[in-house]
Amino acid sequence: MAVIKVKKTGQVIEGEDNVRAFLNSQGVLYEHWDITKLPEHLHDKYVLSDEEKAEILAAFKDEIEDLAARRGYKTWDIVALSDATPNLDELLKKFEQVHIHTEDEVRAITAGHGIFIIKGDKETGYFDVELEAGDVISVPEGNPHYFTLMDDRRVVAVRLFIDPSGWVAHPYEETEEGNG
Ligand SMILES: [Fe+2]
Repeated sequence: MAVIKVKKTGQVIEGEDNVRAFLNSQGVLYEHWDITKLPEHLHDKYVLSDEEKAEILAAFKDEIEDLAARRGYKTWDIVALSDATPNLDELLKKFEQVHIHTEDEVRAITAGHGIFIIKGDKETGYFDVELEAGDVISVPEGNPHYFTLMDDRRVVAVRLFIDPSGWVAHPYEETEEGNG
């Protein structure tokens, strides 16, 4: 289950209901999928063939179509990152810069872990959302954030888009004092 860490105060928020309530208060969608629907051989696999990616999408077909219908997402795919990914360190360096997109950034973790660092409202400031398999998050359009891996350095996630071309990272510059 996802864990929130608020940077400014050190506050830790755990438990599905608390996490959902906090994220919803910040405009971030949080849901949870039943990860036992994923075939056993895909629970801990980070180098995936096209067939295996299709298997993951098939396992969560109902959840994906439901989320897409509610939120207007039109297309989806699988992203897999691990030490087997060429240039993982370079990729992570690129990821670890605060940016925005012109559409939601939607990720459903199906294996491994990831962290979104998200800029909350003025009072809250930045907070980490540590995600594990089954966690589903949608960072709203225009909301500053970045993503990185956790200590296991591996993740598999379903990505949903309205239009993948909207998922271009635009660098975000802090303009107000006291943020970050
Ligand atoms: Fe992003």
